[in-house]
Amino acid sequence: MRGFTGESVAAAALAGGAQVMSRSLKYHRPRSAFCLEGHCGGCLMRIEGIPNRRACQTPCHAGLRAESQNAFPSAELDVLGAVDFVFARGLDHHTLMTGSAIMNLMANRVVRQLSGLGTLPAVAASELPQVGEHHVDVAVIGGGAAGLCAARATAAAGARTLLIDDQLAFGGSLRADPRHGAPAADKAHAQAQAAGVTFLPRTTAIGYFPEDAGGVLVAASETQLHRVVAREWIWATGGYPVLLPVADNDRPSVLALRAAGRLLEEHGILAGGVICVLTHPRMREDAEATAAALRDAGAEVTVIPAAEAQAVLGRRGVRGVRLGDGRRVDCDTVLMASVPSPATEGARQQGCDVVLDETGGGFCLVVDEHGRTTVPHVWGCGDVCGYRGPGAAAAHGQAVGEHVARALASELSKAVP
Ligand code: FES
Repeated sequence: MRGFTGESVAAAALAGGAQVMSRSLKYHRPRSAFCLEGHCGGCLMRIEGIPNRRACQTPCHAGLRAESQNAFPSAELDVLGAVDFVFARGLDHHTLMTGSAIMNLMANRVVRQLSGLGTLPAVAASELPQVGEHHVDVAVIGGGAAGLCAARATAAAGARTLLIDDQLAFGGSLRADPRHGAPAADKAHAQAQAAGVTFLPRTTAIGYFPEDAGGVLVAASETQLHRVVAREWIWATGGYPVLLPVADNDRPSVLALRAAGRLLEEHGILAGGVICVLTHPRMREDAEATAAALRDAGAEVTVIPAAEAQAVLGRRGVRGVRLGDGRRVDCDTVLMASVPSPATEGARQQGCDVVLDETGGGFCLVVDEHGRTTVPHVWGCGDVCGYRGPGAAAAHGQAVGEHVARALASELSKAVP
């Protein structure tokens, strides 16, 4: 397959016409990239002999080897997909053939062979990763619109600021929104860089350990671990695109709205020729903005309220959407404009309160008007506090960053006699 150096394996595969990238681990249902942000698992592949790597977060290079896993002979043509037909009403392996101990043992052996995720790496790791130590004034977790602006504000005020981001490029949802796009993301990154922010790119914050040296955040890149200690913490982790509750919403060619925006804005790839966008009422404006950009690029696009949709039609791809009133809308791609679900895991590990947003999206971080969470020295900004979109998230990040800088300055002035 052809790809550009540095673009994601998933983007190259989609541009090359790959329809199915993986199979679900139990029923072997066909799956493909949904989010293109590293958060859904639809693109898991065996890459360079290592299982379960996210193709959307792995950059291409010449000669890279990417294989499907957990499928025979391939994800495109998986004969194990028969399980989905045979057990169309579901399979509870806990009660499979429990009438006989021997039959149950055999059934469990077979189930274990047929399901799961990949096989062990071709080469076992023989060395422990290096560990980097970072002692900073401010640690910002998340390099999207809010995180970049917050980090720029604290660094500009003289605070030693470290920004951790897990994506292939900084900018988060700015890169996926046609109203902003990659140039706006690159500009925000360059401004943060100019202000003196230190970056840990392609690095995931994996856990906060309060018992370790007064509180340590551990982050991991492909080759290194990092221990981060900070005076102030800012969570700017945004939100995850999620599926809308429609039957067969897991089909290949069902993508998050942001994934289609990212493909178009960042890679110049049209997600489909005839596209149906299902939208949550709160996401109507975002859906229309992306639909307009897709139309400009040559696609035929229909936007439908998600509440009207009943099922996605098709199997290895999409053929249409069935509506609740019995009508059918033909299309080759479905985009889901759901309210992103706030990524609050890390902040919750630090003890921060969350609250259910009754209008959609899930549980958001509780913050006051300055971005303070319920835990001292821990702040939140942007979509992790409830979806607001990249433009408003940037403004929120800037405002919260300025408050953090002021709080830090007053804390430091108290410490100096
Ligand atoms: S994790 Fe790669 S597409 Fe979602």
